[in-house]
Amino acid sequence: MLSEVLLVSAPGKVILHGEHAVVHGKVALAVALNLRTFLRLQPHSNGKVDLSLPNIGIKWAWDVARLQLLDTSFLEQGDITTPTPELVEKLKEVAGLPDDCAVTESLAVLAFLYLYLSICRKQRWTKEDLELINKWAFQGERVIHGNPSGVDNAVSTWGGALRYQQGKISSLKRPPALQILLTNTKVPRNTRTLVAGVRNRLLKFPEIVAPLLTSIDAISLECERVLGEMGEAPAPEQYLVLEELIDMNQHHLNALGVGHASLDQLCQVTRARGLHSKLTGAGGGGCGITLLKPGLEQPEVEATKQALTSCGFDCWETSIGAPGVSIHSATSLDSRVQQALDGL
Ligand code: PMV
Repeated sequence: MLSEVLLVSAPGKVILHGEHAVVHGKVALAVALNLRTFLRLQPHSNGKVDLSLPNIGIKWAWDVARLQLLDTSFLEQGDITTPTPELVEKLKEVAGLPDDCAVTESLAVLAFLYLYLSICRKQRWTKEDLELINKWAFQGERVIHGNPSGVDNAVSTWGGALRYQQGKISSLKRPPALQILLTNTKVPRNTRTLVAGVRNRLLKFPEIVAPLLTSIDAISLECERVLGEMGEAPAPEQYLVLEELIDMNQHHLNALGVGHASLDQLCQVTRARGLHSKLTGAGGGGCGITLLKPGLEQPEVEATKQALTSCGFDCWETSIGAPGVSIHSATSLDSRVQQALDGL
């Protein structure tokens, strides 16, 4: 254990269509983004091992000898165990986290340790390893929002573009390399609360809300069909269909009660420039996606990003269909990533 450098990256992801409806057994389409998060575990000659999570500015060090003496038999390797409060307390002891450690920092370090000690490290992952990673990531999701559908962990593990329904995953054969803007409104929200809000609305108005969920399901299916067609024979009209689907779904999500003024603003700013946006994920703030049509000039894309940044949002231009969670060799890393890892 811990004799070589371990470098892992995972893609960012967005749900194209089907958020919330997927919790109620409907279809969701999710894609991995070419925006990645990196992690490095590096042993040093002084007997320490460093954990770096540059995307969230975290660096942590452990004494290897001390780690090796610890009893981690409570983590039955290979088995999926839900992280209980007792287990989290034990992990805190193992990690040596001080009580005053910031919440995000301590959760990130604990989540890493939990997954690392449970899955163990390898130089290459097989399909079985990825299945195990996906199951563990699902347990991580449960810590964050209680009753997740499983779509988020699936797309981050497998990458590409996925259709997801009730645990059944299929990859879209040849997804087109759509360009999008991912915008973070920076409005904090709680997925658990938003999911519960939709459930309450469904219980209160079943005749109104159930058809909305069915309609979202149909939007996901239509989007899947169009993406398939685009992979085979791309044509400009297909973008018009994708834009209409985005608009209809955004209205449905508003009707489900998961919109937010910041997301309305995002949609208006991009609409004024002829672009179509919807929230992605839980809503109530958080992130939105904007479809960039081919042929859009780069100055126009830059102006849109600038307009969104002026609203106080963070905005990234990226493409869909990235690889899932991956192990890297130190030499294969982009110099900017290397710098970020070294610069912490
Ligand atoms: O924004 P996120 O990553 O928390 O996405 C939540 C997606 C939901 O459909 C609302 C919930 C789920 O578990 O699928």
